[in-house]
Amino acid sequence: MRKIIVTGGNRLTGEISISGAKNAVLPILAATVIGANESTIFNVPELRDVEVMERILLSLGCNVKKMDKMIWVDSKPLNNHKIPEDLVREMRSSIILMGAMLSRCGEVIISYPGGCEIGPRPIDMHLKALRELGAEIEESHGFIYCKANELKGCEIQLDYPSVGATENIMLAAVKAKGTTVIRNAAREPEIIDLQSYLNKAGAKINGAGTSVIIIDGVDKLNNVTHNTMPDRIVAGTYMIASAITEGEVVVKNIIIDHLQAVIAKLREAGCLIYNDNNSLKIIGPKQINSIEMIQTLPYPGFPTDMQAQMMALLSIANGTSIISETVFENRFKHAEELTRMGANIKIFGKVAVIKGVKELTGAKTAAKDLRGGACLILAGLAARGVTEVENMYHIERGYENFHVELRELGADIKKID
Ligand code: EPZ
Repeated sequence: MRKIIVTGGNRLTGEISISGAKNAVLPILAATVIGANESTIFNVPELRDVEVMERILLSLGCNVKKMDKMIWVDSKPLNNHKIPEDLVREMRSSIILMGAMLSRCGEVIISYPGGCEIGPRPIDMHLKALRELGAEIEESHGFIYCKANELKGCEIQLDYPSVGATENIMLAAVKAKGTTVIRNAAREPEIIDLQSYLNKAGAKINGAGTSVIIIDGVDKLNNVTHNTMPDRIVAGTYMIASAITEGEVVVKNIIIDHLQAVIAKLREAGCLIYNDNNSLKIIGPKQINSIEMIQTLPYPGFPTDMQAQMMALLSIANGTSIISETVFENRFKHAEELTRMGANIKIFGKVAVIKGVKELTGAKTAAKDLRGGACLILAGLAARGVTEVENMYHIERGYENFHVELRELGADIKKID
């Protein structure tokens, strides 16, 4: 069982360059099957989730080549429409292949992704929208059977701005007959990146980043090259690594606009943040200020994927902070692990009350999900003594060489196989 050992107390200094965004490259890799074309994607992060998506593409018959941070996919030879069950279990976001496969070949069989550590993760909005576009969908024995002789554009009103549902609809609508309008669409930047990739391939999509996305169906897609946007959540995580260690770190290769909500809250917590055009410097304060209320919301609100990391920071603030997790049902599992390190956190449903303590102490902890794992490592950077974080595979899903990068910034951290 691989785990991380971190000895707290070191101040992080130096600079870190941010890799491509996991949550942009995953839907883009799914989209490569639509066009029976060649896609060359740059700035791809080396992550377990990306490897899983590559294995899915290979299992569908695509040619896939990976060189350093570039992936080349030729989806012309695609000859299978059954997504391997074990791979769907490993990465539930492979559900966005439904829309892409329906666009490509009008048929897909995929196992029900099921819940994960942060909640039941239903896909009712995905299925409702795909049916409105003309797909016949049957769910039985844990599998979803989708067929569509023809996908017809239509107006779709999402009950909630679901990122995955928005992406699935976009992928299904790319070659549908006529125009599809998605209202109450998710506005995450990763959706803008997906639109950019698809339009470069010849799709006709407008509005990504706003609540109304319009897709005019086209007949074919051409070969395409794309450079993935930087990962705003990885950037925010390193910002908190600096904040929690009274550090001074320059975070490079970012899009400042994607981080406004995180910057605002870290300034409230007492950090000094100096923005440049595609980088920022963040200096952590001697004493972290508590924050009256952080509410996680769909973009551009405070990102739910930064909630756990923020909780680590606030656990040593000078007062009581409140975090309201409005996006996922059960995303506080890291709180009990922080408590083992001496944090004073009480959970009331989807609200966490964090009473700052003077210091955390190192302890044996276990990552329960991707961002919760990052949270525990951040807490370990500031804790007195040694912290162990087990279940490192969670962290490797979303962070490239996390412990190596932190060590380069001055952390006393190592991985034990
Ligand atoms: C994406 O998940 C991200 N994953 C998540 O990042 C991120 O936390 C989330 O968006 C919100 O920003 C990827 O992009 C691969 P949603 P997704 O559909 O698409 C409910 C990370 O750490 N819902 O916007 O699954 C759902 O249960 C991961 O990188 C329905 O009820 O998120 C949740 O409560 C974690 N029915 C809420 O909506 C549906 O049909 C938001 O989910 C779909 C969603």
